[in-house]
Parts: sequence; structure tokens; C-alpha cells
Amino acid sequence: MLRSKFFSWNEKEIIVTVQKIKSDKIYFYINFLKEFWMYQDNKNNEIKFEIMNNSNEDLSFLLEVRNHPTTREQLENNQVFSLEQCKEWYFSLKTPWYIIYYNNIKVGYFRRNLDEIGCDIHPKYRNLGIAKKVYLKYLKNVNFASLWVFDDNFAKKIYEKVGFKEVEEFKIIRDRKYVKMIYNSENNE
Ligand SMILES: CC(C)(COP(=O)(O)OP(=O)(O)OC[C@H]1O[C@@H](n2cnc3c(N)ncnc32)[C@H](O)[C@@H]1OP(=O)(O)O)[C@@H](O)C(=O)NCCC(=O)NCCS
Repeated sequence: MLRSKFFSWNEKEIIVTVQKIKSDKIYFYINFLKEFWMYQDNKNNEIKFEIMNNSNEDLSFLLEVRNHPTTREQLENNQVFSLEQCKEWYFSLKTPWYIIYYNNIKVGYFRRNLDEIGCDIHPKYRNLGIAKKVYLKYLKNVNFASLWVFDDNFAKKIYEKVGFKEVEEFKIIRDRKYVKMIYNSENNE
């Protein structure tokens, strides 16, 4: 027991107090770093879309993402494409696709066929919040969009978070349920 004129603490209380001060400090630093990172993220991490060119550079990047097994398993058509096939196919598209840049680095592509959209992110840049930001940015400027997703793909949760709702239409592909989702700005005001 420690005693002074004004205080009378036992050792246990002192240890608890010291531990609390320490953990408050750690908590403060963690929060400071978190806020600093978020500030950096809001200030510096910029998402840009640029129309994909029919160039070897853009289409090779598209294929690097598109032909990756982890991407193909989540797509309706899981075929591997060659650069020649890709060029021919891209030339026939009615709506251009976009390359997604994150801080000026190519990180993925945004697919679009009229109202139907989707995006695939390069495996190196996944789980950084990029797809979610891409959808939020795109949906700010449109009233309607639709997409297809495998029912067991975690990406379905991202779509729900940004305002897509599952509709009744579905297909069975490779023994998995492939569902349609719709975004309507009127339902998300
Ligand atoms: C689906 C895909 C586009 C998501 O892109 P991404 O940039 O990695 O996704 P984000 O980082 O924006 O993730 C957003 C949310 O999903 C969660 N998430 C990301 N990767 C995850 C994973 N592998 N498992 C579970 N949740 C995951 C994140 O934690 C985040 O959740 P939060 O909003 O609660 O923080 C990307 O993983 C991809 O290209 N996958 C392969 C192809 C594919 O599935 N395409 C879509 C077909 S419909």
C-alpha cells in the first residue's frame, strides 16, 4: 500500500492505471495512423477510367487479368483468350470498355455493354477497396445499371452494399447459380 497526504492507492490500482494510460496511448496512435491513412486515401488515391484502346498494351493488360484462373472462375465464359482473339472481339464491341487507374497504375478494367456492367481487378490489387470505389463512382452518374454474378461470389456483397438488388432472373452455369442484379437510383435515394 502506498500512502501520501492526499492519496492512498494500492499497487493493483497503480498497475491498472499505468496499463490504462499505456493502452490509451496505443489506442490514440492507432487511431491517428488510421485517420492519417484515410486522409491520404481521400486526398491522394485517385481512381480514373480511361477508354481502353485496341492496342497491344491495353489488351495484353486486359488478358493478364481476364485469363487469370481466379478471374475466369467468376465469369460466364471461362475460356482463355489469345491476343489475336481479343483484338478481334474488342473491335466488334458496341460499347467501349475502360481501364481503371488507381494512382495512375493500371489495376483492372471496367466492362460495359449498354446498361450491363462489371469490373475485374488484377489479383495484385484486390481487396484494397478499389472495386467498391469504382462502382460508387460509376453509379453516381447513372440512373440504371445491371450485372450478373455467381451467387457464391463474395463480390455479390459489394454489389448489395453499393445499391444493387437481386432480381428473379438467373442461369445455371457450370452447376452454379448465376444471378442478375439491378441498380435503380430511385430506390437508392
Ligand atoms: C470481385 C472483385 C472485382 C472485387 O474487387 P476488389 O477491388 O478486390 O474489391 P474491394 O477491395 O472493393 O472489396 C470490397 C469489399 O469486399 C470485401 N472483400 C474483398 N475481397 C474479398 C474476399 N476475397 N473475400 C471476402 N470479402 C472480400 C472487402 O473486405 C470489402 O468489404 P468492406 O466493404 O466491408 O470493407 C475482384 O476480387 C476480382 O476481380 N475478382 C475476380 C473476378 C470477379 O469475381 N469479378 C466479378 C465478377 S461478377
